[in-house]
Amino acid sequence: MAGRRRLIVVSNRGPVVHDRDANGARVARRGGGGLVTALRSLVEHHDVTWIASAMSAEDKKVAEEAGGEPIAEEARSGAPYRLRFVVHDPSAYDWYYNVVANPMLWFVHHYLWGLANAPDVDHGLHHAWNEGYVPVNRNFADAVVTELEREPDAAVFFHDYHLYVAPGLVRERVPDALLTHFVHVPWSMPEYWRVLPQPIRRAVHEGLLANDVVSFHTSRWRRNFLRSCEDILGLEVDGSSDEIAVGERVVAVRARPISVDPQEFDEIAASPVVEAQEEAIAGTRPETLILRVDRTDPSKNVVRGLRAYELYLDAHPEMHGRVQMLALLDPSRQDIPEYAEYLGAVQRAARTVNDRFQQEGWIPLDLQIQDNFPQAVAAYKQFDVLLVNAIFDGMNLVAKEAPLVNTRGGVLILSENTGAHEELGEWALTVNPFDVAGQAGALHAAVTMAEDERRRRLEAIVDHVREHDIAGWIEAQLADLDEARARLGAPA
Ligand code: F6P
Repeated sequence: MAGRRRLIVVSNRGPVVHDRDANGARVARRGGGGLVTALRSLVEHHDVTWIASAMSAEDKKVAEEAGGEPIAEEARSGAPYRLRFVVHDPSAYDWYYNVVANPMLWFVHHYLWGLANAPDVDHGLHHAWNEGYVPVNRNFADAVVTELEREPDAAVFFHDYHLYVAPGLVRERVPDALLTHFVHVPWSMPEYWRVLPQPIRRAVHEGLLANDVVSFHTSRWRRNFLRSCEDILGLEVDGSSDEIAVGERVVAVRARPISVDPQEFDEIAASPVVEAQEEAIAGTRPETLILRVDRTDPSKNVVRGLRAYELYLDAHPEMHGRVQMLALLDPSRQDIPEYAEYLGAVQRAARTVNDRFQQEGWIPLDLQIQDNFPQAVAAYKQFDVLLVNAIFDGMNLVAKEAPLVNTRGGVLILSENTGAHEELGEWALTVNPFDVAGQAGALHAAVTMAEDERRRRLEAIVDHVREHDIAGWIEAQLADLDEARARLGAPA
């Protein structure tokens, strides 16, 4: 393990959200999402100041009481770190999160528009960019600069598509700062970026290239980024190189697949709360359990997955009463109309399956819309088939987490457009996310796969994930950082 570093981690969502309980006492809950979980490991081993948006009213109070300074926090292991909340103007934050970051940037990254009908890039979007995305990024840049004044040698780790403008703003004010940016979503082809007005698509690319290192989960997203730097900014790019020259500076562009902490998952899987949930699932499950665990995000392709299950049930009456799909869906970004509408479409598709096939004593589809992590881990232990059919996905951590703790020789059905497919594809049943007939066929192949073949594939996935764990992901990024530091001639 590399030595302890001084790091400034910057992400929109922070590691904790503060709230009040029924008695009015302040409580801190763990922030949700795969990114936050992954970054927690960084906090355990390094000297970290984490900068994140104040999400709740209580977060804002915490920030106010601290006079805008960072507060002392503790990681799961008790390791100390500092958390600096950035308080944004509510309207600016709404334009930034609900109009620009998701849906606009998210939709570009995941190819979610059918371009004949959407998007309309109107005044509202330009306004949301200028009065929302840019000011919120400026707030983040101000907080980073303040922290760099305190710790000039710290390296800055920006995360994700919420923060494309901030690195350039920091670079203007601290030219020698060591800046890295991890993009956790897919990078789409240059043509798709051309949906965005030129000033916006240029700002995204220029902002990212203000960093010293830009990283993606796979070589596929990395390659697309290099192409789009060439196409959108007119830079000279050597596709086989992992660097781009930007004026006098060199930017390293890397593929570093994120992973999970196997030990943490083993512990969670053995915890009483998960065991209780597992007992509940085991008590009601049929012979074959097909599982999916997702946020209700259009990129996750839930509706086509349900349609595929319907086709499968149509073709295999012998399985009626013997199979169930358990869909555990975390409601996500419901203030954004596209997401709220998508959740409605999921519910309608689910209803169709049950209306067509439900019989006395058998519910073919159990759709649960809630955020219940212990229940998801319990289901990870129990599945026979795991369906991950995302349209596009930067990585998809469910594909790594669930096999780790599975006890039934479960088969992974995996979209060829997930980052995870680059690593796990050879042991999964690969599907095209648009081909519902193909997915129905894959469900049949998975359900009928011989026991020894199922076990062989599952063990290979588990071995791979245990070997390429979250600690390896962090080490690789710190090595990239050291290389960038050496190139700049700065002290470690
Ligand atoms: O995949 C990108 C990502 O930012 C994840 O890191 C995170 O789990 C997810 O999206 C959640 O997004 P939000 O913060 O909008 O809930």
